[in-house]
This record gives sequence, structure tokens and C-alpha cells, in this order.
Amino acid sequence: MRKKIIAGNWKMNMTFDEGQKLTSEIVNMFKDENISDVQLVINPPFPHLHPVKKLIGDTPNVFLGAQNCSDKESGAYTGEVSAKILASFGVSHVILGHSERREYFKEDNAILTEKLKQALANGLTPIFCCGESLEIREAGTHESNVKFQLTDSLFGLTAEEISKVIIAYEPIWAIGTGKTATSDEAQQMHLSLRKHIASKYGQEVANSISILYGGSMNAGNATDLLSKPDVDGGLIGGASLKSRDFITIAKSY
Ligand code: PGA
Repeated sequence: MRKKIIAGNWKMNMTFDEGQKLTSEIVNMFKDENISDVQLVINPPFPHLHPVKKLIGDTPNVFLGAQNCSDKESGAYTGEVSAKILASFGVSHVILGHSERREYFKEDNAILTEKLKQALANGLTPIFCCGESLEIREAGTHESNVKFQLTDSLFGLTAEEISKVIIAYEPIWAIGTGKTATSDEAQQMHLSLRKHIASKYGQEVANSISILYGGSMNAGNATDLLSKPDVDGGLIGGASLKSRDFITIAKSY
């Protein structure tokens, strides 16, 4: 059975007080409303990690993730945060390869491979993002484009390592735009990615990997998207900043 995962990506939002309030509400609702068999991952900006961890405490099925980590192990890299430092603060997940980092911070597949290695070596679960631009979707080459992103960054991993990775398919044209892939479009891509993984690592490994959908998932469209057999959860941006919406998505299974 694959894990069902709802991950919230706060991006560069939330002051200290706002983050505290949001986390308390999420944790309380998650407990009060007895949401079972779904894992939540909260991915705030770095300074929130420690206080958010304290609020999560030992709540079952609620995890703490970071939005990035360095491709280097340690040393003189001003402004960077290593996977080792994150792990020491109780972080269990890390988002890697988000399209915003690929675009604005020029992260390419080679850098992402190094980041994946750092994350895995320090026991973090990577949430590896992939997805195509509007131009590529319109040209009809989206499946081969996204498969290549997996091949280039992930396929150097062993079967044991890739089994620890969560994949997030996020069509770039759907991120923050209010424009969602239809549930059929999401299912088609997720199935295609799973087949691609199976062609390299075998069906058993492919079946064990959770593939999340991301891109304007919200309280209104989550039920439809999450009803698809190969959609194993969501990576949520805007709607993760509102506790009720985030929890409603988690309850949409
Ligand atoms: P969105 O962001 O839900 O605001 O579209 C998703 C993401 O970028 O992870």
C-alpha cells in the first residue's frame, strides 16, 4: 500500500506569529477530526522549522519538511543549509527541484542529483518535483519531457534509494495560476511516470513510490484529483496557508 501524503509548501510566506497560528490550527484540526491514513508534511521557510517542530511534537502522521537543502555536505557556503543540519532539527522531508528553484535559482538536474544524495545520506525523504512548461504541454511532448527529468536526476539511484523518494508532478502552468490539470491529465502523467520507473527498477519498486500532484490543488478540486488510482496525494502551495483548506484537502480521500 502506498502512503497517502498531503504536503504543504508555504514558500516564502508567513511571519513567525502567522506560522505559529497556522501550525497550531492544522495540528489541532488533524487530531480533533481523527484523520487517519493520511500523512501531513508541513514545509515552512527555514526559520520556522524549529518552532513548527515543537508545535507538531509527537503528533502521529504529521511531519516536518524543508523547502530546499544544499548540494554540499558542510563548510564555507554562506547562506546555505545542509541536509545534515536539517536532520539535526528533526526535519524528515525536503522538497527538491521545485520549478521555482529550477527557474529562479538555476538548479539543474546535475545539482539536483547532488542534493538528492545529500538528503538520502542524512535520512531525509526527498519530495522530488518535476513538471513541464505550458509550451511543452502545448507541443504535446510533456510525457517525454517529464520522464527525462526523472531519468536525469533519479535514475542514478539504487532501487533502495529511489524507494525512499516521493515524486511530485507539478505542471508549471498550473502552479499558483488557479489552472489545474484535470484529474484525467494528472492520472495519465502519473501512470506514465510509474511505468517509466518500472521500466528501470521493476513494477514492485514503482508501485511502492508515492506520486503527488501539485498545481492549484484546493479544497474544491482535491476530491476529484485524489480519486485517481495513481495520484497518491498533493503538494499544496496557496491552499496550505489556510488551515481549514489544508485540512479539507487531507480529508478529501
Ligand atoms: P499552488 O503551488 O498550490 O499554489 O499552485 C503548488 C506548489 O508550487 O507546490
